[in-house]
Amino acid sequence: MNKIIISPSILSADFANLASEIEAVKDAGADWIHIDVMDGHFVPNITVGVPVVKSLKKVTDMVLDTHLMIENPEKYIEPFAKAGSDILTFHYEACKDNEHVGNVISVIKSFNIKAGISIKPKTEPEKIFSFLNDVDLVLVMTVEPGFGGQEFMHDCALKIPKIKANAKEDLIIQVDGGINNLTGKICTSLGANSLVAGSYIYNSSNYRRAIESLKN
Ligand code: DX5
Ligand code: ZN
Repeated sequence: MNKIIISPSILSADFANLASEIEAVKDAGADWIHIDVMDGHFVPNITVGVPVVKSLKKVTDMVLDTHLMIENPEKYIEPFAKAGSDILTFHYEACKDNEHVGNVISVIKSFNIKAGISIKPKTEPEKIFSFLNDVDLVLVMTVEPGFGGQEFMHDCALKIPKIKANAKEDLIIQVDGGINNLTGKICTSLGANSLVAGSYIYNSSNYRRAIESLKN
């Protein structure tokens, strides 16, 4: 069985104790740390930015999987890359045309980090087919981005096999939104190999058990 990369979203963690919250999921078997960056424009919520990534880089060696839910992503790639993001995933919908999308991918790659592209629930997967060879990761949103703790949108998961059928062998297909032990299984059986989970892990009383249930 292929390895499933588990990336807990710190959006549901205790923000007053982020270092220990990250250490706890690492000890419990998590692979990456998912950092949700929201600007109050692309999505109706504001979360964290560059200083938080910079601080977390100092206290963990985990892969910092940074999900940019922001307008004008090209402006912020350099600061996030220099702060220590190992993966930068931006939204297709934040770009005005395909040339813009291509530019954002090129800028991310110029920092020798992984480039990811994400699509919101209403965006058809075909829109990003021409970029599948250029990115390292595709993030399929299974909720409207903006908040943790929302309900999984089953229809969105059907994008996974379409993307997989058109992707190179090593493309990481990640899913984010409403992931728990049941919805995670749906996604991995359809071809996803990375799961983001916020509330399912951080609201559970046993992080290890929650993470194990996503992997198996
Ligand atoms: C939503 C964020 C998600 C969110 C997931 O906009 O991108 O990463 O934290 O939270 P859950 O797992 O609770 O749906
Ligand atoms: Zn996210």
